[in-house]
Amino acid sequence: MALIAVGVSGGIGAYKAVEIVRRLQDAGHDVVVAMTANARRFVGPLTFEAITRRPVVTDQFAPGANATIEHVALATDIRALLVAPATANIIGKLAHGIADDFLTSLYLVTRAPVVLAPAMNTNMYEHPAVAANLALLAARGAHVVAPGEGYLACGWTGPGRLAPVDDVVAAVERRLRPDGGDLAGRRLLVTAGPTCEDLDPVRFVGNRSSGRMGYALAAEAVDRGARVVLVSGPCRLEPPAGAEVVAVRSAADMHAAVTGRADEADAVVMAAAVADYTPAGGAMGQKIAKDSGTLTLTLTRTADVLRELGRRRGGARRPVLVGFAAETRNVVARARAKLEAKGADLIVANDVSRADAGFDVETNAATLVAADGETDLPLQSKRDLARAIVDRLRDMLAGGEPGDSAEADHERP
Ligand code: CTP
Repeated sequence: MALIAVGVSGGIGAYKAVEIVRRLQDAGHDVVVAMTANARRFVGPLTFEAITRRPVVTDQFAPGANATIEHVALATDIRALLVAPATANIIGKLAHGIADDFLTSLYLVTRAPVVLAPAMNTNMYEHPAVAANLALLAARGAHVVAPGEGYLACGWTGPGRLAPVDDVVAAVERRLRPDGGDLAGRRLLVTAGPTCEDLDPVRFVGNRSSGRMGYALAAEAVDRGARVVLVSGPCRLEPPAGAEVVAVRSAADMHAAVTGRADEADAVVMAAAVADYTPAGGAMGQKIAKDSGTLTLTLTRTADVLRELGRRRGGARRPVLVGFAAETRNVVARARAKLEAKGADLIVANDVSRADAGFDVETNAATLVAADGETDLPLQSKRDLARAIVDRLRDMLAGGEPGDSAEADHERP
């Protein structure tokens, strides 16, 4: 049990902070709430006071506030500071050391780990000023729980919704662990999204991958303390704060980015839908003009990145190789054939013929196919599925499979 300060700033997501506080209490923690002036326009301090059974800190300068030892001692007593929701305004203040109320002062005084759960309008969240402030805070060690996507209270649709309560609570709990998460010290390379094979300056051959699964895996791994490189094909998603992002376009770019970095990784997770074919001879320099009748494209095979990593690794145990198999029939059998053909340690097999799983939807179901058997993961959000896949990956990295000797870590091709 730990004392956790929850800072609530002034956004519509403030009401969700009530649930977050409750859930932290359910997990056995003691919670003290600090509210900004604007937060009090959305939720009354009484609500938090009643559920935390502690005075809510609302005003640094209220008579008597500094006379109680509790307020003064808070910064040293807390084991974590969570700001949820974190508005663009408070993120800006924290990033620049502005301390004009209790919460912003607390941030500067405390040495406890800081978790920020941003929530705001999509354009605000995507504004370079906010992105730069979040990057600055992340570089200084704050953990950012990326907001979810969806319909926002302001009527917009896009990223900016406060992350699910579960994710916020899990992020705080991980910061409380002395080891910084069960992937601390691990280096992961995750690929995500489609690749685009250009036909001419305006057209390309692509696929329906949204990148959500790979981004969810990257976010989960960052959250659990891993150093993550996310090699991403063109996606319309906000990359998880804390991951190093390498943007690529074609299968050839993806190949170069992954093979150039794989030796530094403890595990490579190939969640990208890499094109198997690309226009022979590369993209036309000029736009292809229409002609009568049909148009025939000649495509040639791209390099299979995962297979190449499997070959390069040979008998060595690192990096651990995880592939995905998007299938429409004989899902497990085809995934098992890919496991063997590519020399991977694990294949996450999806049935993409289902409307609720696979490409371009929020949910997914999968079967984990490994040399020693299969595990079914039922339909769930891609973030929850990512959690289950990362659990498995953690176990594999810990040495149970595929490598089991300490020397295995040093066997690099
Ligand atoms: N993959 C890869 N390089 C490619 C194609 C695929 O590294 N050029 C990886 C994918 O990222 C995925 C796995 O291989 O992790 C399986 O991808 P999938 O498209 O399901 O299978 P393919 O090998 O392309 O086989 P097929 O299209 O015949 O089903």
